[in-house]
Amino acid sequence: LGLAVNQLLRVVESRSLSDRIKQLSLARIDRKPLPAFRAGAHIVLTIADAATGLRAVRAYSLISSAEQLDRYEIAVQREEAGGGGSKFLHDSVRVGRALSVSAPVEAFGVAPQAQSHLLLGAGIGVTPLLSMAEELVKSGMPARFVYVGRSAAEMPFIERLRECFGERLQVVFTRTGGHSRPDLHALIGAAEPGRHLYVCGPTGFIDSTLRAARDTGWDLSRLHVERFSGSSSLDDAPFTVRLARSDREFVVPPGQSILDVLGDAGIPVPYDCRHGVCGACTATVLEGCPLHKDGQQAEPSQSDNREMRICVSRSLTPRLVLDL
Ligand code: FES
Repeated sequence: LGLAVNQLLRVVESRSLSDRIKQLSLARIDRKPLPAFRAGAHIVLTIADAATGLRAVRAYSLISSAEQLDRYEIAVQREEAGGGGSKFLHDSVRVGRALSVSAPVEAFGVAPQAQSHLLLGAGIGVTPLLSMAEELVKSGMPARFVYVGRSAAEMPFIERLRECFGERLQVVFTRTGGHSRPDLHALIGAAEPGRHLYVCGPTGFIDSTLRAARDTGWDLSRLHVERFSGSSSLDDAPFTVRLARSDREFVVPPGQSILDVLGDAGIPVPYDCRHGVCGACTATVLEGCPLHKDGQQAEPSQSDNREMRICVSRSLTPRLVLDL
């Protein structure tokens, strides 16, 4: 993830985009150009606050254009129930503060083989799609954008997307006089040859989108997913995990991660971010097939299946055996 090449970047601008979303602009202290990146990339911030002892590792998509390298721009949503990283960035980080930032991680982006594109972003999950959308429009590729959120007040990127997509932007509010679930089958539509789907948002939204895509005949190889939330979904299937070294077995229920279950059982496993970005919790898989939830692949290849990040990833098989 490029964590070994962290550099200190200075906050050069900070502004509120909504009640809960703040945009931070980061630049090199010597103001030289930053490393180039592909639209859709993210950076990983390592947050350490001596005053409170807070240590957190958080991934944020780059929302600035890939052509603008004098600064990186990110949008941070304040998570009240999170581990404190976003609250620190909201409450304690002002212009002038230096932050430790990884090189851009290019785990998500426009598929070069696609002939047309459907981008689907929910809530703060819209952020990795912004620079991709602008790149697609610039290159004249056929593309459509669906932006889902609770209300306009919580969706600060509507205007930016409308300028770029015009009529091809569909905005869906889920809280207009009550709460409604978006009709994902209708939003996605039937699969068309050469069309690729990109989705980012809360875990439940991503999982429902993938299910709707499968129902409507989309090929898995045309689905691209960016997940930043470590929260498990209650729609997840339960599975059993066996620890080969201690010969113990546990059931991992929906809504809990392997890391949660092992932690509850008092089994020490290293971890840090709990969001699938730092790699601290990576375990070797001896048997079974993991369902990776830390990267973009909807269907991992065989070579991806020997290791897994147990803070977010689950299982495609009823049982997993880990070298723990
Ligand atoms: S704890 Fe960071 S990837 Fe799992």
